[in-house]
Amino acid sequence: MAVSEETWTRLIDAALAASRNAHAPYSGFHVGAALLTTDDEIIVGCNVENATFGATVCAERTALGTAVVRGIHDFVALAVITPADHPVAPCGICRQVLAEFCDDLPILMVTESGQRLHVTLEELLPHRFTSKDF
Ligand code: THU
Repeated sequence: MAVSEETWTRLIDAALAASRNAHAPYSGFHVGAALLTTDDEIIVGCNVENATFGATVCAERTALGTAVVRGIHDFVALAVITPADHPVAPCGICRQVLAEFCDDLPILMVTESGQRLHVTLEELLPHRFTSKDF
């Protein structure tokens, strides 16, 4: 399903609002994510850092976890916003977790200053390991 410009704008606005709640006292890098569901709902996440560093959870995964808690497993698109000076891609762990639920997914990486880069999950994680492999 093609995602309209208006929908991407809604996702970016939601991701930006979510990023304001990021718990990022260590990196100072506030990330927001917004998932569009097949029911046209938007589910957001922000990064939640931890003093152990290793227990940090990215914005993409908090959004996915929130969706799963609500029984939602089907997604149409993802927008991720960061304060970086270039669009930032989801980390490897988030790519794998997204692949648990999505065969493919249009992803928009956007900076707070408005730079945008469209990619797909297939582009970010080709030849992935999934439940179909065992
Ligand atoms: N982070 C995300 O939330 N998503 C990404 O795609 C990349 C990194 C967070 C994790 C950590 O809180 C901070 O950005 C710096 O790595």
